[in-house]
Amino acid sequence: MPGADHEYRLYGELAGWWPLISPPGEYTQEATYLAAVLSSTAAIPVHDVLDLGSGGGHVAMHLKDRFALTLADISGDMLDVSRKLNPQCAHVRGDMRTMRLGQQFDAVLTHDAIDYVTSRDDLAMVIATAFAHCRPGGIAVFVPDYVKDDFRALTGSGGGGEDGSGRKATFRERTWDPDPADDWVQAEYEFILREADGTVEVVKETHRLGVFARETWRQLLVAAGFTVAPGFANRSMPGKPPANLIIGHRGLRPSPSSAQANS
Ligand SMILES: C[S@@+](CC[C@H](N)C(=O)[O-])C[C@H]1O[C@@H](n2cnc3c(N)ncnc32)[C@H](O)[C@@H]1O
Repeated sequence: MPGADHEYRLYGELAGWWPLISPPGEYTQEATYLAAVLSSTAAIPVHDVLDLGSGGGHVAMHLKDRFALTLADISGDMLDVSRKLNPQCAHVRGDMRTMRLGQQFDAVLTHDAIDYVTSRDDLAMVIATAFAHCRPGGIAVFVPDYVKDDFRALTGSGGGGEDGSGRKATFRERTWDPDPADDWVQAEYEFILREADGTVEVVKETHRLGVFARETWRQLLVAAGFTVAPGFANRSMPGKPPANLIIGHRGLRPSPSSAQANS
């Protein structure tokens, strides 16, 4: 995972292209599903939600009418993009492995930013962050793009957004696993960025993305103090279910093992 001083260009100097590379409208169906999950899964009513790795706020923009959102990201540039889209939401800069706001929420959501966690130790740290910010009775919802159990190499393309000035962006990607023995895969992106005056810049960037076995997720969630209910994927909700959905439930009372370590 790149540190705060070593972000991928996509989330640093190129952040202003994010709404064109990954247009907010593409998140509508999945966000509808996640809103239903957030509303119906916890033991307490869910009003306030912490979004860890909120990026440009494209998921958040579909949730903000239903929940009071706090949007956290390691990239100041991505937070600036999100602030324009979601001025009514609280924004905070922080590393999801280590940040502590001294505040608890009814739910903690970590959407595709969890892909940037590429070691078990870091995944355990993010889960500990989620636990520390999750109110008793609340839930932590993780939406990784990939899990090791069913990862397959892929190629694809996307983007196509255009802004009022005429700027356009598209991308191609190839994601593959150089070494199935470890917990990450490699995504090779080619971003085609067309300025309003027709100038085109092609940016190639390789990202390292985490892929953890479902059993690893379960073990780390339980070690942090969450419980994990099996079979959630079978529940029917409005919208489109994400490829992977992992939910930790924080009990209404602290468990003896988790109370000291995580609160
Ligand atoms: C794919 S983007 C998230 C897009 C977001 N779902 C949206 O709706 O716009 C991934 C984000 O993860 C953030 N990120 C990566 N590592 C992080 C970390 N350790 N802590 C917080 N954010 C992180 C990046 O800065 C980037 O904004």
